[in-house]
Amino acid sequence: MNTYTQTNLKNWECRVPLHLKSYPLEKFKSGWDPLFPIEAAEVGDIDGLNVLHLQCHIGMDSLGLVRRGAKVTGLDFSPSAVEAAQALSDETGLLATFVQGDVYATPKLIKKRFDLVYTTWGTITWLPDITKWASVVAAMLKRGGRFYIADGHPTMLVMEEEDGHLVHKYPWKTMPKSPMHFDEEITYTGEPMPQEASDSYDWAHPLSSIIGGLLDAGLRLDFLHEHDTVAWPYVNLMVPDGDEPRMYRLPDTLPPLPLSFSLGATKH
Ligand SMILES: C[S@@+](CC[C@H](N)C(=O)[O-])C[C@H]1O[C@@H](n2cnc3c(N)ncnc32)[C@H](O)[C@@H]1O
Repeated sequence: MNTYTQTNLKNWECRVPLHLKSYPLEKFKSGWDPLFPIEAAEVGDIDGLNVLHLQCHIGMDSLGLVRRGAKVTGLDFSPSAVEAAQALSDETGLLATFVQGDVYATPKLIKKRFDLVYTTWGTITWLPDITKWASVVAAMLKRGGRFYIADGHPTMLVMEEEDGHLVHKYPWKTMPKSPMHFDEEITYTGEPMPQEASDSYDWAHPLSSIIGGLLDAGLRLDFLHEHDTVAWPYVNLMVPDGDEPRMYRLPDTLPPLPLSFSLGATKH
């Protein structure tokens, strides 16, 4: 594991206890569906499918997929996240398998191959090499298996809020050895991050690299959708979406931008 990924791991290990307090776990335990409307509408019928959830964090979404009838394996590099996911599974009786490891090691760690590989909201910016990531996705799918991702749109991710304005601040693509460095005071659910773990490294991946990587790895594109809402308030000036307050949009005073994308592809 390189030093960037080690720093990110320390960062995520610190977020887990914070997110165990702020994620709506009690609501989830009483039957609430954690999937956001975009993936809930697009993931399709997964009843009976073997699903691999990459970067599953504390397992709430993984177990939301179990409730839809899937047989789920979740993978995350954070031991605390995997432990929390297993505890949630044990407590709810929603059975799933959780594996600790780096995304890039998945084909070595998990021998099974899947009908669906699934990853959503805040995943690929943590990964240096999108071509290698796409080859992992392809390797984990059975022939005919599907891949699904929903995440922040690369156009949104170059922006930042400064003095109440949206400004273009970040590069649209980064190389594996030159990530962006962030030192964030709070995590995305609003809690303060401990100072010793607030550093992290992010990579920008253009849509062309994401799609090109998947095509080169042997997948065919089923759909690409761009959305004017996103699953977290990326900048403070975003407002909750009227129809679905868990999603955020730009205020009406600003011209619209694509804030998230979702993509389905099949291994042929
Ligand atoms: C924003 S969270 C994903 C959120 C998730 N969709 C949910 O439902 O909560 C990103 C996750 O990626 C994991 N992660 C980051 N880099 C990773 C890597 N190289 N390999 C495996 N997991 C990684 C983190 O531990 C974290 O749990």
